Amino acid sequence: TDIPIIAIDGPSGVGKGTLGQALVQKLGFHFLDSGAIYRALAWGVLHEGVDPGDVAAVVALARRLPVRFDAGRVLYGEHDITQAIRTEEVAAIASRVAAIPEVREALLQRQRDFAQPPGLIADGRDMGTVVFPNATVKLFLDAAPEIRAERRYKQLKEQGIDANIVKIIEEIRARDARDRNRPVAPLRPAGDAIVIDTGSMTVDEVIHTACEIIRSKG
Ligand code: C5P
Repeated sequence: TDIPIIAIDGPSGVGKGTLGQALVQKLGFHFLDSGAIYRALAWGVLHEGVDPGDVAAVVALARRLPVRFDAGRVLYGEHDITQAIRTEEVAAIASRVAAIPEVREALLQRQRDFAQPPGLIADGRDMGTVVFPNATVKLFLDAAPEIRAERRYKQLKEQGIDANIVKIIEEIRARDARDRNRPVAPLRPAGDAIVIDTGSMTVDEVIHTACEIIRSKG
């Protein structure tokens, strides 16, 4: 297709969502938060009492996943799960069920359906490698786990939430390992992705760098 697609991949907590939203504002494109789909599945597993180890049951739920996105809200049937899917418990189950090949297969077309005019910003782990291999621009954001943990810790502190930095680093490491080492759609930059090491960059610098790359490809 000729719909412009900007793929933004990278590990958790690296700032993909922040960059994605900035690009949405700038370009007026649609936004795919693919992680929210896996999180919605994890929420459904918890809510419907499915055993996360029961592959057949998880795959069946993925095939009929009643998730919808509406004006920035994430809806599961009648439930507004926008906030509920942001917990570390949901994230951990999301990365577990995301390693099941049939689950990824079941959710593939739903993600591709987000590619609508005038264009799409797609945030995830495998946007450039699997879901949109022909994306116009492929960005891969990276930063050390300690740096991502530090950023998350500050965010939580600002929201008045008491957090443990050591625990956050451990959770980030565990999820990274699961996302990078799974056999299907592992987290890695596509061959034609441009890697941005955000470790020593401010949010504005990352946005600026991404815009320069997009401009050069346009
Ligand atoms: O990006 P986010 O942290 O919301 O994603 C939650 C989990 O969903 C990730 O840790 C990963 O295991 C899974 N995921 C995935 N492929 C994507 C997006 C997310 O496997 N494209």
